[in-house]
Amino acid sequence: MVVLQQLVGLDAPLACTLFSTLRGPLSLPSRAARAVSRRLAPGGWGTPAMWQLGGHRLLAPAVGLRATSTAAVSSCRAVMLPRFGGPEVREVRPAVGVPSLKPRDVLVRSRAVSINPLDLRMRSGYGCSIFEPLLPLIIGRDISGEVAAVGTSVSSLTVGQEVFGALHPTAVRGTYADYAILSEDELTLKPPSATRGILGDIYGPWYILENFVIVQDASAIPFAALTAWRALKSTARITNGQRLLVLGGGGAVGLAAIQIAVAAGCSVSATCGSQSIERVLAFGAEQAIDYTAEDIEVAIKGQFDAVLDTIGVPETERTGINLLKKGGHYMMLQGETASLADKYGLVIGIPAATTILLKKQLQYRYSHGIEYWWTYMRADAEGLDEFRRLSEAGKLKIPVEETFPIAKVRKAHEVKEKRIIPGKVVLEVD
Ligand SMILES: NC(=O)c1ccc[n+]([C@@H]2O[C@H](COP(=O)([O-])OP(=O)(O)OC[C@H]3O[C@@H](n4cnc5c(N)ncnc54)[C@H](OP(=O)(O)O)[C@@H]3O)[C@@H](O)[C@H]2O)c1
Repeated sequence: MVVLQQLVGLDAPLACTLFSTLRGPLSLPSRAARAVSRRLAPGGWGTPAMWQLGGHRLLAPAVGLRATSTAAVSSCRAVMLPRFGGPEVREVRPAVGVPSLKPRDVLVRSRAVSINPLDLRMRSGYGCSIFEPLLPLIIGRDISGEVAAVGTSVSSLTVGQEVFGALHPTAVRGTYADYAILSEDELTLKPPSATRGILGDIYGPWYILENFVIVQDASAIPFAALTAWRALKSTARITNGQRLLVLGGGGAVGLAAIQIAVAAGCSVSATCGSQSIERVLAFGAEQAIDYTAEDIEVAIKGQFDAVLDTIGVPETERTGINLLKKGGHYMMLQGETASLADKYGLVIGIPAATTILLKKQLQYRYSHGIEYWWTYMRADAEGLDEFRRLSEAGKLKIPVEETFPIAKVRKAHEVKEKRIIPGKVVLEVD
């Protein structure tokens, strides 16, 4: 199971489910897998007594209280995905069960959740080999809100604190809900919304509106920035003075990668659409190339220590690899593990993806002397703390283009999917 977890970047509960599923054909149907699915599936949690409370939200405990393993809220409003499909396939349900907290869990009262491409893809059926047995699902990865309750072993957060963070791509219960559960290391304190001070009795309270981070902006950061962080810090291990190329620097992951690399002392070049050129330069890239108008390999001078390819098509792969120094790292975000598992099932799909990856790694090591990777977002407490410091200092920001109330999730998905709004779209949770 540990191997499986490392191979495809699964979080622990899902790796357990998957492990049991993989064992399925070789043994009796796994009771463990069914038990895990039943426990994790939204709507499948809670005792009958809890369900009698359906529709009534219980108040979170007062500041400073430490909850036991039972969550302070037994049910809440959530956007459920009853089946896979288009933006119309979603139900806003008023009373979905909230499971008990495990010792390291934190219950977060959600204020804003940002929409990631993964949300749209999951809604359409991406990852169905894993998620289909768990329908109806709550999707969503990012969150910004307040701590409503903590598990018995949580030591770094207390009730009432403002936090932001993100769930792993394979987490079963998502964040499109009034309350979400994340583990302690998937959250960090949010920088203040405004710094409040007292300017005498005459003017009353005043606010310094510099480098403040409102909940909507905070929710746009974690999933994209953790994806960039894992590639740059854990895989390529970028260091001061190195050169990074970001292919697709205008999106959330691209912008996060630029800012993280600049903060680490790297010089960054990026490709992006014409509308993103100014922003990419303003966020610290030394060179921004419009990939719709210029030949990237001609426009970019010199070679790079690392390439982060957020587009991940054969053309960008070829370009990225050609622009790497020997020993450099090419990292793309569109690894084929989930799509092959969806197509051929987990038992064939995962080994097939591993074979393709190993073949590419050997091929490029031999032909170009470079390291080739598929990288995935992963929770990282150190990364989240760094994002808090950087955003507090005004050095990390993912611009939010539009916000919608969570009840308008269908509209929000439509505008994102049709690229009517190209940048970050955030759902506000009232
Ligand atoms: N492996 C993982 O764990 C992981 C995690 C997060 C994201 N991802 C993947 O990484 C990619 C980027 O995510 P994101 O959150 O940064 O998305 P995003 O904020 O929506 O940005 C995507 C950017 O890619 C460019 N783009 C989009 N569609 C394009 C197209 N058809 N042709 C060329 N360029 C296009 C656009 O840049 P311009 O505006 O400059 O044209 C766009 O801003 C997505 O494919 C996502 O699924 C993977």
